[in-house]
Amino acid sequence: MAHAGPGLFVTFEGGEGSGKTTQLERLAARLRAAGHDPLVTREPGGTPLAESVRDLLMAHAVEGAAPAPLAEAFLMEAARAELVARVIGPALAAGRIVLCDRYADSTLAYQGAGRGLDADFLAAMNAAATGGLVPALTLLFDLDPADGIARRGAAKNRFDREPLEFHRRVRRRLHELAAAEPSRFVRIDASRPADEVAERVWEAVDARLPR
Ligand code: TYD
Repeated sequence: MAHAGPGLFVTFEGGEGSGKTTQLERLAARLRAAGHDPLVTREPGGTPLAESVRDLLMAHAVEGAAPAPLAEAFLMEAARAELVARVIGPALAAGRIVLCDRYADSTLAYQGAGRGLDADFLAAMNAAATGGLVPALTLLFDLDPADGIARRGAAKNRFDREPLEFHRRVRRRLHELAAAEPSRFVRIDASRPADEVAERVWEAVDARLPR
């Protein structure tokens, strides 16, 4: 179910180091310059509770102390349920443009393809956590994981440290998700220069802005 009402819900997906967070900030600035008032948020996070959950999820756990895959999925979904109920839902209801750095597709890619959890089960969890709220547009920042991890440099989180094969599975799943919903997803070649990527982003969003 896509959201009803005047707002526009845009999510940013992609692998590590794909530049999506930088592009999200650029888009927000351009929207503001055009007179819009976008709400910018991220997953996991975006509320005090969800940011606390994020701290738990991102902690550089010592070997053997990382969450079990199912526990990781439940924590992601708890943060998502909180963010949708307290921030994203109300903002869309008020007619705002919402830009979210990662959303439900990340769970399908990371906990599904990455960790090996069942895709249908994760889709059911996503539906429950979001109340069926699906983005109007999902920008997929596509980049070879080897390049993305290299761009990341020394600042690696618990996910960045996963082997390249994990990130390749994540990327493949994102491609599959995009192919399954071509009207929601716009794939952007994140290996292109940042200005060019920003232009692709703007074209995709501008085409969906309420007029
Ligand atoms: P972050 O530092 O925000 O990474 P990025 O800049 O790549 O978005 O960390 C978010 C991490 O959480 C990222 O590695 C992917 C992971 N993640 C999941 O595994 N499942 C999810 O549902 C979400 C939202 C994120």
